[in-house]
Amino acid sequence: MVKYNLAIFASGAGSNAEQVLKFFRSHPAIKVALVVSNRSNAGVLDIAKAYGVPTVIVGKSELYESNHIVEILRNFEINFIVLAGFLLKVPAVLVELFPDKIINIHPALLPKFGGKGMYGIHVHQAVKDGNETETGITIHYVNEHYDEGNIIFQASCAILPTDEVDTIRQKVQKLEHEHFPIVIEKLLTGGV
Ligand code: GRF
Repeated sequence: MVKYNLAIFASGAGSNAEQVLKFFRSHPAIKVALVVSNRSNAGVLDIAKAYGVPTVIVGKSELYESNHIVEILRNFEINFIVLAGFLLKVPAVLVELFPDKIINIHPALLPKFGGKGMYGIHVHQAVKDGNETETGITIHYVNEHYDEGNIIFQASCAILPTDEVDTIRQKVQKLEHEHFPIVIEKLLTGGV
């Protein structure tokens, strides 16, 4: 019996969302019931459609100035939210309504390289500029501050001095795809 109805929130290409959709496609207890995006041309919307998962687009003002998102999540009986490249801040009302039930994946080892403006290639550029010898991924709970909720899981990879920013991005993305669905499953079924 399905126990968890997940909503994935994403703004971009959706490669992480795709891994999650694929992993839970025929899971007995966990179902991706909805994909939410703030951008009508986000790649993630096509991916969701390919998996037969409903999508909804919620603009910025709608997100912060109305109760629309709460109603949508209620209609789809969502009880867990996964942020996978969602670039807007989660409204406080959702943080309150979903305590410890919203998680995010960040493409670096928090608390380093997090916070406002630290997304996408900016993160990997900062890691490169900082001459870091390692980077990685962080999966964490979401609170009202960017990238500051409690950490659930981290995985790291080495950076060679010769690695270009895009090489760093690829290494991190590999870790994301490898771990994200499994960490979600463990978290929801009691293994993390
Ligand atoms: C990922 O690097 C994720 O860690 C970050 O945003 C990126 C989303 O990429 N929060 P994609 O859209 O899943 O390909």
